[in-house]
Amino acid sequence: MGLRKDFLWGGATAANQFEGGYQTGGKGLSSVDVIPKGENRFPVMRGEMDYRTLPQGSYYPAHEAVDFYHHYKEDIALMAEMGFKAYRFSMSWTRIFPTGLEKEPNEAGLAFYEAVIDELLKYDIQPIVTICHFDAPLQLIEEFGGWKSRQMIDCYLAYCQAIFARFKDKVKYWMTFNEINMLMHLPFMGAGIRFEEGENKQQVLYQAAHHELVASAKATALAKSINPDFQIGCMLAAGQYYAQTCHPNDVFDALDKNRDNFFFIDVQSRGYYPAYALKYLEREGIVLEMDATDGQVLRDNTVDYIGFSYYSSRLTGTLEREGEQTAGNVFATLRNPYLDRSEWGWQIDPVGLRITMNALYERYQKPLFIVENGLGAVDHVEEDGMIHDSYRIAYLKDHISEMIKAVELDGVDLLGYTPWGCIDLVSASTGEMSKRYGFIYVDKNDKGEGSLKRIPKDSFYWYKKVIASNGKELDTFEKSSL
Ligand code: BG6
Repeated sequence: MGLRKDFLWGGATAANQFEGGYQTGGKGLSSVDVIPKGENRFPVMRGEMDYRTLPQGSYYPAHEAVDFYHHYKEDIALMAEMGFKAYRFSMSWTRIFPTGLEKEPNEAGLAFYEAVIDELLKYDIQPIVTICHFDAPLQLIEEFGGWKSRQMIDCYLAYCQAIFARFKDKVKYWMTFNEINMLMHLPFMGAGIRFEEGENKQQVLYQAAHHELVASAKATALAKSINPDFQIGCMLAAGQYYAQTCHPNDVFDALDKNRDNFFFIDVQSRGYYPAYALKYLEREGIVLEMDATDGQVLRDNTVDYIGFSYYSSRLTGTLEREGEQTAGNVFATLRNPYLDRSEWGWQIDPVGLRITMNALYERYQKPLFIVENGLGAVDHVEEDGMIHDSYRIAYLKDHISEMIKAVELDGVDLLGYTPWGCIDLVSASTGEMSKRYGFIYVDKNDKGEGSLKRIPKDSFYWYKKVIASNGKELDTFEKSSL
């Protein structure tokens, strides 16, 4: 009973929010490099505002982020000190192919990730690589319109070929696209899409989705041809929808919203467009351009495991549309009166994690991997230089308890748990530094000022104990000096 002996405890980050070095080592510009902090952030991420019209002097938090690029040895040593078994990070496409169109990969980019991976392996930390985490070469956006265009598929595959070949003996777990369903909500951030006047947005989004789904399946085929032991996963922004009341219309509404989320994973895991999606496309008059072989490609190359992020459940209803809304992981949702909320309005629902795990496992019958979870909160450095983040420990403890119940009591097969932003990083939604998730504090503020010094928080020592006990000791921890 209990978690697997080789359970992958660790943490997760993404290049665009963590790495910095945006023009170092020959890196080209990415979509995230032109997403500013402030009031224009959401319009740009949604593809409704052209980044080229942004005012001079806009601040771009991804440029430096927290400079993992120059701190990776120190950061990985801290992860090792916590006992990490795995570290999930994304590679930046434009470090490998600066414009996305080069014939050969950029050696400096490959060498950087090789150095990171070798450092991880030195401590027996398993690298888990997200191939594309809210990141597309700007040049491809300018030339092709991002994932609107089918030409993206070959560019993406060239990038996959380069990293699969280089790291074939060093990386086992890969994910093709982070939160692939985010494309529907933040099209520029998720897929480099900017809308033209009069464009049918749903048509554009589903066509882009199709391109990403085919790219993901072709990447899976390519991966297996390079190393049959590679494990390729999808990655969903998960969080079960609940019905606001037991009125059957509300129950159906929740079912319908859950399907919207499952759509991508249904294709990636089962290998075909589900009936409800085909009916939706037909009703909306959306006609997808597909190559004759696409259906076969999707069918033959399904994923090995289901990676997902979970921050909160969601609530929906048809009767009380006016019900109070609250923020969520990009998706606003109705306020659930039974749940507390974070400082950013995200509802806190540990049991929802167990519910979500069960829903995913029953639907796909494939191993799950919780690759993001956590509490974004403001931290204070006390006079003694410490950060006492008992609120974060409470959040994680409650979620880990429910995660273990899903494994022990419900029989869910779970590969690992890599909570988000294990070292503080830039928030994807707001661009803030003050929305912190880490076990390790980074001295940097929302204006971009700070020494970038790393300081372990109380949760660092707590998580170390959790890992050492394989999830058995969730209550006690002692601080020891490093
Ligand atoms: C997920 C993303 O949506 O949630 C991360 O994969 C993101 O990139 C995380 O950072 C938390 O969201 P936020 O907006 O608090 O950074």
